[in-house]
Amino acid sequence: MTRKILVTSALPYANGSIHLGHLVEYIQTDIWVRFQKMRGNTCHYVCADDTHGTPIMLRAEKEGITPEQLIARVWQEHYDDFAAFHVQFDNYGSTNSNETKESAQGIYRTLKANGLIEVRSIEQYYDPVKNMFLPDRFIKGECPKCHAKDQYGDNCEVCGAAYAPTDLINPFSAVSGAKPELRNSDHYFFKLSADTCQAFLRQWTRGGALQPEAANKMQEWLGAEGENKLTDWDISRDAPYFGFEIPDAPGKYFYVWLDAPVGYMGSFKQLCAKTGLDFSDYWKQGSDAELYHFIGKDILYFHALFWPAMLQHAGFRTPTKLFAHGFLTVNGEKMSKSRGTFITARSYVDHIKNTEYLRYYYAAKLNGTMEDIDLNLEDFVAKVNSDLIGKYINIASRCAGFISKKFEGKLADIHADKLISEPLQIDSGFYKLKPEVVAEVADAYEKRDFSKALREIMAFADSANQFVDRHKPWVIAKETGKETELHQVCTLALNMFRQLSILLQPVLPELAKNVESFLNAPRFTWEDVLTTLPAAHTINEYKHLATRLDPKLIEAMVAANQESLKPMTDSHSETRHAEHQQHAIAPIAETIGIDDFMKIDLRVAHIVNAEHVEGAEKLLKLTLDIGEENPRTVFAGIKSAYDPEKLKGRMTVMVANLAPRKMKFGMSEGMVLAASGETPGLFVLSPDDGAQPGMRIK
Ligand code: 2FM
Ligand code: ZN
Repeated sequence: MTRKILVTSALPYANGSIHLGHLVEYIQTDIWVRFQKMRGNTCHYVCADDTHGTPIMLRAEKEGITPEQLIARVWQEHYDDFAAFHVQFDNYGSTNSNETKESAQGIYRTLKANGLIEVRSIEQYYDPVKNMFLPDRFIKGECPKCHAKDQYGDNCEVCGAAYAPTDLINPFSAVSGAKPELRNSDHYFFKLSADTCQAFLRQWTRGGALQPEAANKMQEWLGAEGENKLTDWDISRDAPYFGFEIPDAPGKYFYVWLDAPVGYMGSFKQLCAKTGLDFSDYWKQGSDAELYHFIGKDILYFHALFWPAMLQHAGFRTPTKLFAHGFLTVNGEKMSKSRGTFITARSYVDHIKNTEYLRYYYAAKLNGTMEDIDLNLEDFVAKVNSDLIGKYINIASRCAGFISKKFEGKLADIHADKLISEPLQIDSGFYKLKPEVVAEVADAYEKRDFSKALREIMAFADSANQFVDRHKPWVIAKETGKETELHQVCTLALNMFRQLSILLQPVLPELAKNVESFLNAPRFTWEDVLTTLPAAHTINEYKHLATRLDPKLIEAMVAANQESLKPMTDSHSETRHAEHQQHAIAPIAETIGIDDFMKIDLRVAHIVNAEHVEGAEKLLKLTLDIGEENPRTVFAGIKSAYDPEKLKGRMTVMVANLAPRKMKFGMSEGMVLAASGETPGLFVLSPDDGAQPGMRIK
């Protein structure tokens, strides 16, 4: 029986680029969806940009454009990035759509009619200069516990204390710097504390929709039976806000997280309009369709509590399962701009081009759990070259030439009783792909244990290579009277190659397409995997299907992403996070002694020259005088913030004893210091008047 399946990935925020961390999820989902489609199931994959909220509104303002212009631009970038990685959505929408608006307002109206919306006045900080209420992350001040300065309104990054913004000492607005005032305003709450929500969630979170680790987390959040731990959820924000107005509540907008998951529905509605699918068939209560949300573990709370409770009480079906994955680390550490491992999708494409290498590597690491996965760049190169090229592509490249050169591109008859020699008859049976293996691979794909699927597939590739090694086509090609054997050996090997390509198709869709045309075969389906191409079938000439991954490309990519000029610590919370998490600053680094500090030789530098670097997106080339005989050259990632003309003649501060680093554009002989934070901008340091080039800073 074919299944009806609707699949989503989390909607990326429209205020940032897609990076390798995001891609774990989209690649994971895409592989799963392609597998379902290959199996003949009806499977729809929808997604959209998540476009609302204060950060997007403020960013557009800063760029001098409307939020609509900003999200249109970012939508196109995201769309192109996904296409480059072969992430094939059936519809890619935007939460800022009529479909999402209608659904969000409809859900809200039903929740209200069911008595689950409550209006309460709350006291909140207001920025009197910007004339807006400030989200917690846009208020800063001194931590009430440890007195660290410059902490955000909800928790302290230094001592870890959580508090209300009103507890901050000397609060100020991170938007305008103004002293915020406390003002009252009516907010709309979804009554998650209502008995009906608590009872429903208690049952739903235990009903098999969650991975075991996630279900445990939920029990923690829900508390013990009878202990009402859930509090009502504030779903409104006051104008000015970029979002949807709440019906019958002028000046009140839905909080971005209210309409984000509704974007799944909105995007699916667009697909229904395009294809004639029936929306309610998939979303009505009791629907026989399956609904799966692929998400990061950081947004479980929204998807496992708020979203099912909203759906249930607004008369819709709830998700069949949530598939949460872990975060990405690169070389064992958090992605980092200073290490050059904060790599955008675009930068990967520009440097490596072949995006299926990354799909293969992620697949080899993903096992369906919430564990973090590591992209080790050395291992990435090794795995692509040894598995993909060395094992898989190698089979075709060793055998295809003989078929075209010696047999006019026609395949031999490899039916068991037609095989010319006994060893070939025995080996063709011994090395052939077993139905049990195919079933195991299918089961692993279904469970999202792609690493297991690839292990099984690569074991079969090993066996295909052993077959070729035993029968040595390159040797028998030189012997007379061995034509039929050569023909059969190569045909058997190419059939194994075809089977491998079918099994790998969900991971390597582009390559599979090229194999289809090389083998002159119709579109692969899962059923094809245990069949063979008929005798005398003509294949096309073999052209390179993939080449080895050159480690130099990785080095160049890392170098291009490395910002030579950054404050001492990375400023970003660099995995994909919920809105409130996007503005975390890195915790203060480990305490050091004065001796450690003195190892850094900081000098006053005179910027003698500053210029653009051809082909560099982020860098300026600075010539710095620190009183030495020859001036230093430093490549600094400050192009986005400075016109080189304005830097000429200025004094700044540089690290003078940093090991010189070879960059794509030349040698960089130090680092200039600058400050940056979560709010836009980059600020080069300057000493007070009177400081002379070469003076030491201590
Ligand atoms: O965490 C994020 O990046 C959110 N934009 C995800 C939203 S997923 C869904 F709810 F829309
Ligand atoms: Zn503190």
